[in-house]
This record gives sequence, C-alpha cells and structure tokens, in this order.
Amino acid sequence: MKVLVTGGLGFIGSHTVVELQNKGFEVVIIDDLSNSSIDVLEGITAITGKTPIFEKLDLKDKLKVETFFNAHKDIVGVIHFAASKAVGESVEKPLLYYENNLNTLIYMLKSVLGLQASNFIFSSSCTVYGQADTMPILENAPVKPAESPYGNTKQIGEEIIKDTCKVNDDLNAISLRYFNPVGAHESAKIGELPLGVPQNLVPFITQTAAGLRKQLSVFGDDYPTPDGTCIRDYIHVVDLAKAHVIALQRLIDKTNASNYEVFNIGTGKGSSVLEVIKSFEKVSGEKLNYKIAPRRAGDITKAYADTSKSNNELGWKAELTLDDAMRSAWNWEKKIRNL
Ligand SMILES: NC(=O)c1ccc[n+]([C@@H]2O[C@H](COP(=O)([O-])OP(=O)(O)OC[C@H]3O[C@@H](n4cnc5c(N)ncnc54)[C@H](O)[C@@H]3O)[C@@H](O)[C@H]2O)c1
Repeated sequence: MKVLVTGGLGFIGSHTVVELQNKGFEVVIIDDLSNSSIDVLEGITAITGKTPIFEKLDLKDKLKVETFFNAHKDIVGVIHFAASKAVGESVEKPLLYYENNLNTLIYMLKSVLGLQASNFIFSSSCTVYGQADTMPILENAPVKPAESPYGNTKQIGEEIIKDTCKVNDDLNAISLRYFNPVGAHESAKIGELPLGVPQNLVPFITQTAAGLRKQLSVFGDDYPTPDGTCIRDYIHVVDLAKAHVIALQRLIDKTNASNYEVFNIGTGKGSSVLEVIKSFEKVSGEKLNYKIAPRRAGDITKAYADTSKSNNELGWKAELTLDDAMRSAWNWEKKIRNL
C-alpha cells in the first residue's frame, strides 16, 4: 500500500517513514529540502533496509503537485507534514507562513479528493489551545486566538480540512494535535536537525552540552508551577510517529467514527523545564550549564494533554519516557557532532 509522506525528510516525517516501512507500507516522500537534508534518506535506509521513493518538489508548485498525483493514483493515504514551523520567523514573515502552510494544504486536499482512497492525516499542534483554562487539555477545549501566524496556520488548516470534509463524504481526515515532540530514533541514525539556533528546549540542551551553545537560559522560574518553570507535555518522536501509522490504518480500515476527527498526541504528563534538565543530566551524566533568565513574551504557563481519546478511540498510547527521549536526543547529538 503506497503512502505519500510530505515533509518526509524532516524531523517527525522521517521517523514516521521508518515506522510506515516497518509496517510494510510503500512510502513516497515529497520534500523540497527547505528544512532538511537529503542525507536523512540514508538514515531511513540504514534503519529499515529499504529506500523510500523520493521526489524533490516544492508543494507550492500546484502544477507539479497535480503531475505527481497523476503518476501516483494508487496512493492509499497522505500524511502531510510539510510546513514552515519557526514561530518567531512566522511573526517576522507572516506571508511566507500563510503561503507555505496553507497553499500546500489546499493543493494537497484537492489532489487527495481525486484519489480512489481519500485518506488524509494533518500535523496540527497543541498551540491551537493557547493557555487552556483547565488541565489536562481535552480535544474539545476551546481553540484560543493564535499567538503567532504559525499557530494561526494550524487553526486555519484544521478549519479548511473540517469544511472540506463536511461536503465530501469520501474524504476521511484526521488532525493530530502534537504536544512537544522530542528525542530521536534509538539507532541515532535520524533525529532533529535544527537550522541555526534551536527554538526548542531539547535541542538547545543537547547543543549546549555538546559545546555549540554557551549556556541555556531557562525563561522564568516564577510561574505558578511547583518549581516555577513552565510545564509541557514532551512526547517521544517515535511514539508520535507510531500514532500516524495507527491513524492512517484507522482510515484505511474505515474504523473512524466520523470523516473528520481530532486527537491529542501527548503523554498526558506535564514536565517542567527543570525536570527536563534533570532528566538530561541523569541519562547523559553531563552537567548542563544553565541560568534562570526573565520570562519570555508569549510563553504559556502549562500545557499537557488529556490522552483518553487517543488511548481509547484511536488505540494509541505513548510508551517511551522522558528519560528515553533525552537519552536518544543526546545519542543523536553526539553522533552528529562526532563526540
Ligand atoms: N516539531 C514540533 O515541535 C511540532 C509541533 C507541532 C506540530 N508540528 C508540525 O509537524 C510538521 C512536521 O514538523 P517537523 O518538526 O518535522 O518539521 P521539519 O521542518 O523538520 O519538517 C518539515 C519538512 O517539510 C519540508 N517542507 C516545508 N515546506 C515544504 C514545501 N513547500 N514543499 C515540500 N517540502 C516542504 C521541509 O524541508 C522539512 O523537511 C509540521 O507541519 C509542523 O508544523 C511540529
């Protein structure tokens, strides 16, 4: 069964391609390499013993997308990761984000509607909840005004899919709202490859420990949380990847409850920034150089998932721990820095 994975050489996409191939799917990747490296293909091949089909293509090119789908009418599902994802950059360059994240989604949906099997999985984010009023966060928690153009593309993206599903019974779609993806494959053959200064905590930690960054700043220790630092739900990227395979299988098997569904993908457990640092120090044996800095504008205090819907209805559950994630992230960092 042939599956298209857009953005399949990126962080989450590459781990998902591995899990799809492990389950016997034939994978076609489209990526324009705007935020990834062609070397990732080698990592996927080394882990799975199989090289996915790869097309270097910018999904903003509508004609090329149409040509691609004409040549691959036998696709049974599309997992759409391709997007620009830097929150700060999206504030600086909103049109770039709206153009890349929304145009590509629209062209993809149009093409999926022309397939025999119109199965579609979308990368959404817990950012749609903003600072939710109650923890843990349920899927029916209100969607709050987006804090950034990036976040807005996820909200609008979900609306576009929902509206399209409403009038197309044959289209079956699932939005997976990821909490905070971290870690790397245990083989250390694929992992996160941030361009420039990492925006996320875990790559900043591993790069600091590897000597690429001088010091980690913990933004605020006066939040109303047990140790004063912000709390997030860190989900191991391999668990997250497996959620995509399960969601796709649900659509292929037609066991979905309606033709548009939304699931939280997290562990259900919140961890503070200081707990993440402690976990890293424990599994790596390294002492991390960090300091407490003032709060950063736009940071919410806490966000962690209620996972009962994904556990009970989707039949997926996170299995790996924060320690597993930190260990794999550190092994990956050491591998790419030749440490
Ligand atoms: N990493 C996170 O923290 C996180 C959290 C929630 C949601 N998401 C979403 O998950 C998805 C994957 O995230 P990721 O962390 O793997 O990001 P990533 O940047 O590592 O992967 C995205 C991939 O898409 C490709 N791409 C971007 N625009 C493209 C285009 N126009 N045509 C073809 N390829 C294109 C990039 O080259 C990259 O390989 C994104 O949609 C992101 O918004 C990520």
